[in-house]
Amino acid sequence: MRAYNFAAGPAILPEEVLKQAQAELLDYQGTGMSIMEMSHRGKEYSAVHAETIANIKQLLNIPEGYSVLFMTGGASTQFALIPMNLLGAGQTADYTNSGAWAAKAIKEAKLLGSVNIAADCGKEIPTRVPSVDELKLTDGAAYLHITSNETISGAQWKVFPEHETLIADMSSDILSREIDVSKFGLIYAGAQKNLGPAGITLVIIKDELAKRCPETVPTIMKYTTHIENNSLFNTVPTFPVYMLCLTTRWLLANGGIAGMQQRNEEKAEKLYAIIDESDFYTGTAVKEYRSNMNVTWRLPTEELEAQFIAEAAAKNLKSLKGHRSVGGIRASIYNAFPAEGVDALISFMKEFEAQNG
Ligand SMILES: Cc1ncc(COP(=O)(O)O)c(C=O)c1O
Repeated sequence: MRAYNFAAGPAILPEEVLKQAQAELLDYQGTGMSIMEMSHRGKEYSAVHAETIANIKQLLNIPEGYSVLFMTGGASTQFALIPMNLLGAGQTADYTNSGAWAAKAIKEAKLLGSVNIAADCGKEIPTRVPSVDELKLTDGAAYLHITSNETISGAQWKVFPEHETLIADMSSDILSREIDVSKFGLIYAGAQKNLGPAGITLVIIKDELAKRCPETVPTIMKYTTHIENNSLFNTVPTFPVYMLCLTTRWLLANGGIAGMQQRNEEKAEKLYAIIDESDFYTGTAVKEYRSNMNVTWRLPTEELEAQFIAEAAAKNLKSLKGHRSVGGIRASIYNAFPAEGVDALISFMKEFEAQNG
């Protein structure tokens, strides 16, 4: 039996995607071998690589002048590559601090150059992301970095700031809602939440921006290298790209990003409604910034939280424990998470409250 898996990442994948990968695992399209056993420059893998890029361009309506890259080292590596490539000597980069992930990006940037914290609500409880009008931006900043969805606290930017060079960590909400890519210089996301298994990082970058990189940056760490080599400068993690290919096909077949956004909003609204109706459950994030991907809340005591998590798991509602740094409950309901799973969680929450409230 498949579990209702609320894990924050690595996270649930669409069942159809897993089934197709399983069906093709030993013999990919009559070749007698798995896609992961083939050359990353061969005919079969090349077709997968090209289709994945084309599907992402179609799903996000990516304009001309942008490249779609598959990189390694997770979103955490991007925390360092962004300032290495884009924060020139003598320049300042603006960063917003919205919580744990933004703080990690800031820490790396500070190792490499001058950073201005344009807004700081990283430690506020209840948690939120900054509002556009509270940003204190630096004139002529190299870029503005935001974390579009804070996976741990469950706070999400609903309206993005306008900036000449806006950079966003979209690790936990990429492909979950419609965005205007032309408003961004660079978007990045680790794959293991909305895209596929861990192992690749999706980067969408404006080609012009990549050219800023100083010559002294090592070749493999330059965005231009990956753009010029179509993400095949070295051996790309072929299986994760293949899985991403299947996920993008599944997205296209299920209403694209607009369809996903609608289903994600419906799932999240239902769950927040039950939290708001109750005096027993307390939401962690400020209402207007609540994430549609990671729904976080508390119970009256930590003992009740532990009991809630254990009883839920026994009912096949798995991985509801909040991040180890903050505790509480977190239900990650990414694209692939089925609406029936949210309904099952809501029934359990009502039952649990009736018995323990
Ligand atoms: C918003 C956000 N940024 C960055 C990361 C780090 O990603 P990775 O583990 O791929 O380096 C995570 C991981 O959970 C995340 O949620």
